[in-house]
Amino acid sequence: MTLRTLESLGSLAGKRVIVRCDLNVPLKDGVITDDGRVRASLPTLNALINQGARVVVVSHLGRPDGAPDARYSLAPVAQRLSELLGKPVTFARDTVGSGAQDAVASLGDGDVALLENLRFNPGETSKSEDERTAFAAKLAALADAFVSDGFGVVHRKQASVYELAQALPSAAGLLIQAELDVLDRLTENPEAPYTVVLGGSKVSDKLGVIDHLLPRVNSLLIGGGMLFTFLAALGHKVGSSLLESDQLDTVKEYLTRAEQLGVEIVLPTDVVVASKFAADAEHVVRPAEAIEDTDWGASGLGLDIGPETAERFAGVIRASHTVFWNGPMGVFELAPFATGTRAIAEALTQVDGLGVVGGGDSAAAVRALGFADDQFGHISTGGGASLEFLEGKRLPGLEVLGWQ
Ligand code: 3PG
Repeated sequence: MTLRTLESLGSLAGKRVIVRCDLNVPLKDGVITDDGRVRASLPTLNALINQGARVVVVSHLGRPDGAPDARYSLAPVAQRLSELLGKPVTFARDTVGSGAQDAVASLGDGDVALLENLRFNPGETSKSEDERTAFAAKLAALADAFVSDGFGVVHRKQASVYELAQALPSAAGLLIQAELDVLDRLTENPEAPYTVVLGGSKVSDKLGVIDHLLPRVNSLLIGGGMLFTFLAALGHKVGSSLLESDQLDTVKEYLTRAEQLGVEIVLPTDVVVASKFAADAEHVVRPAEAIEDTDWGASGLGLDIGPETAERFAGVIRASHTVFWNGPMGVFELAPFATGTRAIAEALTQVDGLGVVGGGDSAAAVRALGFADDQFGHISTGGGASLEFLEGKRLPGLEVLGWQ
């Protein structure tokens, strides 16, 4: 079976359509610092508005504890959504209570409401299927049809992702379709050379994807905090850099398997070592096997890949026809340690083929470093979701829409 698309719902003119978006955007002091996910939700919302549907948008924001918490209110998102849509967005102060019911009742054809954070209700993320089903039934009572378009949550078996899709006539929105088109090109006969670039802090978050992709790629480039577990597996001392000692055996096994498969796991040959975790830290470039050979000895911290590594990685990326990148190469939030991440982003914009930024921190990084979305083949809105897809896992939010 293939994914049910919007057309399968027939004419939605005058119908109340609940749309699950992933508007989980980063906020600083109540201000959205990256509105990429809000912008990504626009094609589906505009398609529904243009049909004259009464659009009820729902989303989560952050991980509140199943109760209202002002820090996680979607109110700032309602304002940004309204600016981007160029029309008013009614914001409901609750999700299934009288606030939401009144907001939905007041909608005319082509109007839009955004309900408050789904995760203010314990039923949304409950482990109990009954509780999730009961919450989904309350959401379903607000609408005539359901469009699932929050790609960033399709790996979550949560009420608004899974049970709600069973409670109403349902289909996938345009964002989910677009994300799957790209991810399919990364898994079904990707054009070689195929390079995967992994960074971020933890190897343990990436084990599944390394495991699944090793036989499929030509090169695997390792940066970010996780590189130190690889260097330690080679027997290097890594000072006080991030290290997952419990993953050393697994990493050694990957290195051996890669060699057997003829896959090149490219590890950094130099790193930027700092005196402390701060933007004003003293820092030097050291060879990967001499990280402790600084004035700070074993207390030195590796916070970025070095320039030689960045150049080598960039060369491999530019020579590839398919590239998937997930996870920053260093602590890009601190300017002196953003160089490696910037070099990788720059190289990705020059790929002759498909260059994909895999959501989450990497998407935030490229935007924070001043790159524009259209410089890349694709920027995924789903960090965890795209990784789980590439791990070959079954994703509940897609299966419930007919995807196999
Ligand atoms: C994300 O940011 O990856 C998605 O919005 C999912 O959020 P979650 O990990 O809190 O479920």
